[in-house]
Amino acid sequence: MLGRQGVLGAPFGHRQTEGLVEVLGVHPHEVVRGGNLHRGDAPQLWRVLRIPPGEAARPEARSRPKEQRRTIWPHGDTHAEVLSPPERPSHAALTLTAELPIPLPEERTMKIFIDTADIDEIRDAAAMGLVDGVTTNPSLIAKTGRPQKEVTLEICEIVDGPISAEVLATDYEGMVREGRELASWHRNIVVKIPLIAEGLKAVQTLSQEGIKTNVTLCFSPTQALLAAKSGATYISPFLGRVDDISGEGMELLEQILAIYRNYDIKTEVLAASIRHPLHVVQAMLLGADVATLPHKVILQLLKHPLTDIGLQKFLQDAAKTPKP
Ligand code: G3P
Repeated sequence: MLGRQGVLGAPFGHRQTEGLVEVLGVHPHEVVRGGNLHRGDAPQLWRVLRIPPGEAARPEARSRPKEQRRTIWPHGDTHAEVLSPPERPSHAALTLTAELPIPLPEERTMKIFIDTADIDEIRDAAAMGLVDGVTTNPSLIAKTGRPQKEVTLEICEIVDGPISAEVLATDYEGMVREGRELASWHRNIVVKIPLIAEGLKAVQTLSQEGIKTNVTLCFSPTQALLAAKSGATYISPFLGRVDDISGEGMELLEQILAIYRNYDIKTEVLAASIRHPLHVVQAMLLGADVATLPHKVILQLLKHPLTDIGLQKFLQDAAKTPKP
C-alpha cells in the first residue's frame, strides 16, 4: 500500500507491477508524496512533488521510447515522468509513472497454503500449481499414522515453499530445542509454536537465530500483536474455531490486519482454520497475506455446477459431430 502520509490511494487509484508504480489521476497542482509501497520494510521508494501545470497534455508520450520521456522531478535515483493525457479531465490530469530503484516485493496476491499432512492431497493440489506452502499440526500428522519427520520431509520434496511443522514441547527450552531440530531438517521448514508465554520466548530466540516461526492458536488481536513483537514470521488466527463458539472469526482477522498495517508490522497474517469458500473470499477481501486451506476447500473453490453442465453439453454435442 502507498504511504500513510501520502495523498495517493482510493480517490486517485494506483496499480503496481514489478519495478513500476502507476499513479492514476493525480491533479497537477496536487502535492504528492510517495511513501512505502508495501507494508513491511520497503524503503522510501519514490517521491513526486508539485507537478507543474501544463505537463498533462502529452498524448504522444506513452508511445515514445522510454529514454525520450521527460523526467519532471528527479529525486535521487528515482524520477517521475508524464506518460499520458488525462482520461477523466474533470478531476484527473496526469498519469505518472515512478520508476523504482529496487524491485517491489514479488508477491501481492494472497498466498494459498494447504492445511494437511496427507501426501496425496498435497500432490493433487500441487499438481494444479495451487500450493505456495503447507501447514501441519500434531492432529494432522497423527492422521497420517507416520512419524512427523518422515511425513514432513516428504512434503518438503513436493512443495518448494514454507512448510510449517509444530513443536510438541510447551516449555521454553523444549520448544527452542525442538524448533532448532525441526529447522535443521530442511531449509523450508517454519517452526510452528503455540501462542503461550513460553512460546513467545521461544519465538524470540528462534527468530534471532534466523529460524522462521508460525505462531499458532491465535484468538485475539492482542495475542497477534505480542507474537509480532516477539518476531513471529507468521501469525495464525484460527477463524473457524472462533466461529465455532459464536464469535466472528473475520472480525478477528480484520482487527489483526488493521493493527499490523497501522504499525507497519512485518509478520504475515496467515488465515487458518478456514472451513469454506466464503472464508477464503472474506480473507482475500480483507487482505490476508496467506490462507491455509484444507484440500476439500481448495476443491470447493474451483467447483461450479455450470462448468460441469456446460462441459457435459459440449461433450454431448461433440459426439454428434460427424467424424472425418
Ligand atoms: O491451521 C490450523 C487448522 O489446522 C485448524 O483448523 O479446522 O482444525 O480448526 P481446524
